[in-house]
Amino acid sequence: MTDRFPPINPRFPHMLYGGDYNPDQWLHSPETLQEDLRLMQLAGINSATLGVFAWSSYEKREGQFNFDWLDRVMDNMAERKMAAVLATPSGARPAWLSKKYPEVLRVNQQGIRDYHQMRHNHCPTSPAYREKVGIINRKLAERYHNHPALAVWHLSNEYSGECFCELCKNAFRQWLRERYKTLDALNLAWWSAFWSHTVSDWDEIEPVDASVGGMVIDWKRFVTAQTVDFMKAELAALRQFSKDVPAATNFMGTYPGLDYWKLAEHLDVVSWDSYPRYHSQSDMWKTGADVAFNHDMNRSMKGGRPFMLMESVPSATNWAAVPKLKRPGVLRLEMIQAIAHGSDTCQFFQFRKSRGAHEKFHGAVVDHAGHENTRVFRDVAEVGSILGELDDVVGTRVDAEVALVQDWENRWALEASCGPRQQKDYMPTCYAHYRPFWSMGVPVDVINADCDFSKYKVLIAPMLYMIRPGVGERIASFVESGGTLVATYLTGIANESDLCFTGGWPGAGLRKVLGIWSEEIDSLYDEERVRLSVQPGNSLGLEGQFNVQEYADLVHAEGAEVLATYGSEFYAGRPAITCNSFGKGKAYYLAGRTGEDFLKAFYCRLVGSAGVSRNVGAELPEGLTVQCRRGGGKEFLFVLNFADQDHQLPVAEGRFIDVLSGGEVSHTLRVTAYGAFILQRC
Ligand code: GLA
Ligand code: ZN
Repeated sequence: MTDRFPPINPRFPHMLYGGDYNPDQWLHSPETLQEDLRLMQLAGINSATLGVFAWSSYEKREGQFNFDWLDRVMDNMAERKMAAVLATPSGARPAWLSKKYPEVLRVNQQGIRDYHQMRHNHCPTSPAYREKVGIINRKLAERYHNHPALAVWHLSNEYSGECFCELCKNAFRQWLRERYKTLDALNLAWWSAFWSHTVSDWDEIEPVDASVGGMVIDWKRFVTAQTVDFMKAELAALRQFSKDVPAATNFMGTYPGLDYWKLAEHLDVVSWDSYPRYHSQSDMWKTGADVAFNHDMNRSMKGGRPFMLMESVPSATNWAAVPKLKRPGVLRLEMIQAIAHGSDTCQFFQFRKSRGAHEKFHGAVVDHAGHENTRVFRDVAEVGSILGELDDVVGTRVDAEVALVQDWENRWALEASCGPRQQKDYMPTCYAHYRPFWSMGVPVDVINADCDFSKYKVLIAPMLYMIRPGVGERIASFVESGGTLVATYLTGIANESDLCFTGGWPGAGLRKVLGIWSEEIDSLYDEERVRLSVQPGNSLGLEGQFNVQEYADLVHAEGAEVLATYGSEFYAGRPAITCNSFGKGKAYYLAGRTGEDFLKAFYCRLVGSAGVSRNVGAELPEGLTVQCRRGGGKEFLFVLNFADQDHQLPVAEGRFIDVLSGGEVSHTLRVTAYGAFILQRC
C-alpha cells in the first residue's frame, strides 16, 4: 500500500487554500484586483480557481480572443507562489454562441428548446458546442500549460442535466445498438412486451417512458456516458499542450443524475462542492456525518488518493431555503473535517462577493464591505494559518477496514421501480448505516458495487436491489474468504436491466451466502411499527428493545442463525435479523428496516466481533468523532466535535502533540462545542 501519496501537484506541496475567484467581474476596477491580492495573502490563501464562467470575457466575439486579464492575474499569482486552478469555461457560454449555433441549447423532455439563459445547460452531443469548447480549451492550454502558477485543470463546472434533442436521442439509439446488438435482446431486457412496448426499429425508441425501468436506467447510463465523452473531449483538447497538469471536475456529492465513478476514471484527482445545511432542524452532528460520508466517497473514488474540497461556503449559502450564518467555530470545524477525511485542499465559493446578479448574497471571503474587518474574514484567516501548519499531512492516507456500498445504478433502479413502497429512501438509508461508524471513530470507504471488496473486513451493502453480473460472485467470495457482509431488505431483487431474479430472493447466489429465502415484503405506513424480539443468547450478543419501520421482509432461515424475530404482526416469530456462516465469513441480513438505535447497537457489536479497529479506544460522546490520517511515519488524529456542547475525550493509549498549539496532550482532551483538534501521535 502507498505510504503517502504525492501532492495533487508536486510543485505545490502544501494544503491548497482558496477558491473561486472572478476577476472578470471586476475588470472595470483595477484597484479592487490589486486589493484582492493583499487580502488573499492576509487570509493565508495560496490558491485561486479562475475562469469558471469567463468565456465571454475571453471571446467577446466569435474568434476574437483576449486573455490580458488572465495573464495579469496568473503572473501576479506566480510572483506570490500561488496555485491556480484554471477552469475550462464550458459551464456557461457567450450569447453569440447560442444565437449562431442554436443546436447548443438544450431541449427538454417535452421537446422544447431552451433560451440562452442561466448556465450548465449545453447539449452534450452538439458538434458545434464541442468544436467551440475545443477551440477555447486549446487556447487556454497553449497559453498557460507552462505557466508557473498553473496547478490543476478544472473541467467545466458541475456537469449535470440531460438533453432530449434529436442529436442526443440518436446518440442514445446508437449507444443502445452497441449495448444490445439486436432489438430482440433490447426488447427482452426491457420486458417490452408489457403494455405493448415492443420496438421494431431503433428509431421508435423515445427515452421518456417512465414505465420501462430498463429504459430509464439505460438512459441514465447513456447520460453519464455522454457526459464522460464530452468531458474526455474537453480534456483531450487541453492535453494537446498540457501533458501532465492534473485534471479535476467538481462533483456535487451524491447528485443523482450522473454515476460519478465513471467520470472519476478519467480524472487525475476528484473534487467536490460541499454545501451542507448546518443549523437546520436535524441534528448538527448528523449533517456533519453526512458530509463525512461524501468526503469518504470522494476519497474512495481514486483508491484513497487525497481529493479536493473544491467549493464550500465561508458563511451563508444564498440558494438554501433558509440561508443560516455559520455559527462561530463551524467554518474551522468544517475545514478540518475535510482534511481529516482525506482532502488536501479547502476551497470556497467564492473569494469576493459579486455586486450583482444571482449570487450577490452568497457567502464569500470578502463581503460587499470590501475589507478584512469582518467575522467571516477573520474565520477564514484563522483557517489559513492552520492549513499553513499541515504540510506533513499532505498526501497521507485514511486506512479503512469497512466499506459501504452506495451504487448509483442501484439507486436509479430502486427509484425507477413502482413498488415495493414508493418512498424507498435509499440515500437516507446509506447515511443511516454510515453514522454508527462515524460515531465510533471507525474509518469507512464509500464504494460502488464494481469495487474490489477483498481488502475490507466488513462490507455494508444497504438495499443492494440491483446485482450486476459478477457482483454476486464477488460478494460470495468476499464472505467465503472471511469477510463480514451486512445486507438488508430489498437485496438481490433485479439484474442490471431491472429484470427480477426468479427462483427465490435474494438472487444472484446471495440466497446461499445469506442462508435465507425472502418470500414476501410487507410495507408499512410511515407511523406503523413492528416490534423486534432479540433472541436471548444470540451469537452477536445483541440486546435491547427495537422496532421495524417501513419495510418488513418475510424470510425463511435456510441455515442462518436467527438473532431476532418480529415481535408483532401476523409474522411475529419469523426471522427479522439473521447471521449465516459462509466459508470463513459471516453474512448478516436485516430483514426489517430498523431505526438508528438498532443500527448503533448492532454495528457496535459487529465492529467488535469482526475485529475492526477504532481510531481511539474510548466510547465517543454523541456528536464527536475521531478520524485519522497516516503516512510518512506519522499519524494524525482529528478530533471533531459537531455537538453544540463541550465534551471530554479520554486519550489514554499514547501521547499526543496538539499540532496547532504545539502543546502535549495526554489522558483527557476538553473539546468545546464545534471544537476541533489535530493531534500527532508521539
Ligand atoms: C455551485 C457552483 C458555483 C456556485 C455555488 C453556489 O457549487 O459550482 O458556481 O454557484 O454553487 O453555492
Ligand atoms: Zn442534445
